[in-house]
Amino acid sequence: MSLILGIESSCDETAAAVVEDGRNVLSNAVASQIAKHAPYGGVIPELAARAHLTAVRPTLDEALKTAGVTLDDLDAVAVTHAPGLIPALLVGLNFAKGLAASHGLPLIPINHFSAHIYGAFLEQEDLVFGDPDLFPMLAVVVSGGHTALVVVGRDGKMTLAGTTLDDAAGEAFDKAAKILDLGYPGGPVIERLAKQGDPHAVNFPRSLTPSSGKPVAPENRFHFSFSGVKTALLYHVKNLGGVENIRDQVLFDILASYQEAIVDVLCRKAFDAAKYFDVRSIVLAGGVACNGALRERFQATVPRRYRAVLPLKKYCTDNAAMVGGLGWHYWKRGVTAPPGLDAQARLPLNQTIPIWFDKVQP
Ligand code: KG4
Ligand code: ZN
Repeated sequence: MSLILGIESSCDETAAAVVEDGRNVLSNAVASQIAKHAPYGGVIPELAARAHLTAVRPTLDEALKTAGVTLDDLDAVAVTHAPGLIPALLVGLNFAKGLAASHGLPLIPINHFSAHIYGAFLEQEDLVFGDPDLFPMLAVVVSGGHTALVVVGRDGKMTLAGTTLDDAAGEAFDKAAKILDLGYPGGPVIERLAKQGDPHAVNFPRSLTPSSGKPVAPENRFHFSFSGVKTALLYHVKNLGGVENIRDQVLFDILASYQEAIVDVLCRKAFDAAKYFDVRSIVLAGGVACNGALRERFQATVPRRYRAVLPLKKYCTDNAAMVGGLGWHYWKRGVTAPPGLDAQARLPLNQTIPIWFDKVQP
């Protein structure tokens, strides 16, 4: 039995978790800063860093207490070092370095993007990341910072098949909420209000898909663009005389249609890529994977030949269980961080996850 402590601070959640053997989540403490950033309609990096600084120690204490362990019981510390907001990442990374050094523990560098994919497998019955039958796997990572289709091979190599050319899917929700004065983050409030609306009331554009009315260039087949739907919303609001004139059913219909356009594009592109790359499983991951309309559409329309993986909602948005869980795979393979490990805002997505296969050792 091995215990890995995960630490996450890449954006506006300070998180610490203790995970046993890559899959038993003994604790998952998350301190959210949403209230701090809400007045600005987005995350302010320096504010985030200061909030991480005050929250990181209490969050660690909570994670250890809930798990019923002490720092001496741990086998390693896994920490998100990229991609993310640099001031925010630096707090968690530096804290993790200090913990690891002072307790003689290995430090494991975690890519936040890969951790989101891993998070989809946490606490899922009969489903473990290290099941070779799931590979090659298509990961659909949809969050505030990413919209990407990534093929993960049996060797753990991630190949970026498509990404967004402009806004991420989560950003499209957040910016729509800003346009309509609905607060931050946009995804949850839009989902809630859209439940009362008609998803076919407004025909919002589906950029870079055949239903956009324009041919899709072959090089854009698996890429996304969400700035068009956001601009269409902006003009729709202007044409109705501004946000103060949009209420109740009109608002609900706009939101339902807007959400429908995003969900439609995500699912169509994902299934097209799954077929093209001949994968065996499709995994939804990231904050937008919380969205009920996306989850329902995905489940209802995913072709039966693929194993479909939908994360538990608590592991869609940022958390440290996904960091501690993935960290175990690195630890089993003896992959640890160089002493000079730095934070990075971006990382090439074509990296390799050293997967520890449960059934067959490669
Ligand atoms: O994964 P995450 O917590 O942070 C990043 O790594 O970006 O994702 C946050 C994003 C935000 O853009 C938020 O609006 C979106 O996920 N989100 C949702 C929902 N819950 C969170 N989008 C749509 N529907 C939701 N229910
Ligand atoms: Zn994230």
